Amino acid sequence: MTERFDVCVVGSANLDLVATVERLPGPGETVSGTGYAEYPGGKGLNQAVAAARGGARTAFVGAVGRDAAGTALLQVMTTDGIATDHVAIVDEPTGRALIGVSSAAENSIIVVPGANATVTAEALPPATVVLAQLEVPVDAVRRAFTAARAMGAVTVLNPAPAASLPDDVLALCDIVVPNEHEVELLGGVDHLLALGVASVVVTLGARGAALHTPEGDTPIAPFAVTPVDTTGAGDTFCGSLCARLAAGDALLTALRYAAAAGALCTTRAGAVPSIPTATEVRELLGS
Ligand code: RIB
Repeated sequence: MTERFDVCVVGSANLDLVATVERLPGPGETVSGTGYAEYPGGKGLNQAVAAARGGARTAFVGAVGRDAAGTALLQVMTTDGIATDHVAIVDEPTGRALIGVSSAAENSIIVVPGANATVTAEALPPATVVLAQLEVPVDAVRRAFTAARAMGAVTVLNPAPAASLPDDVLALCDIVVPNEHEVELLGGVDHLLALGVASVVVTLGARGAALHTPEGDTPIAPFAVTPVDTTGAGDTFCGSLCARLAAGDALLTALRYAAAAGALCTTRAGAVPSIPTATEVRELLGS
């Protein structure tokens, strides 16, 4: 019998090349780095790891290159118990993200898609929640959400990196989780609700988040932490949210868990290594 997953993430996997700097360079400027490290990352992989560490049986649909970085990222998925049957190994190089992180915990990111650009999402394993972002082609997201709807799964879109999207793709989403900039590019909250999106969760960084539904708006309070590196915090929010929704939590309960997980992620360096376990999140929620 085919295994049914709690969460299926359709998305990117990158090797993150991270330089720490006192302050991020402006256009045409060179600054000296204070440190360098390589971490597993990519919005899709980060979200899958967050879902898995949140307790969800998780599958990943994506692509990596036939190279050392691809082998390492597949190993990361396996270590976190993420099913890799739908990860293609392709001739394109594994995706890379060139990341600068300042002493104020701000970042700037250049993504080179590589293998991620080949993701088609032709086949999806059965799942309760299907989560996607925009570091893979929009056609793959459309195909994945069409299949998700056909299997009765909840569809969750994190429209990052920011881009405008055709209405037919937005209309396939049950929940959209943009930041303030991304929601503007999608035409605003009211446009999304008019297309039939049931819930729009706008993430507001250190100010928490705001849930918008046709019934009204609800603030999601932030958790006070001292940030070191915000890379992956939004991804942790999304993956954790889906894990808790698949577990049967009410949306507001799942959002509070997601906010705590996202806050904890900012307290450590790197993307995948900074994603908290359910035990860590429960500790913060209980404090
Ligand atoms: O959202 C953070 C992620 O964006 C990083 O891990 C990097 O790979 C880029 O995709």
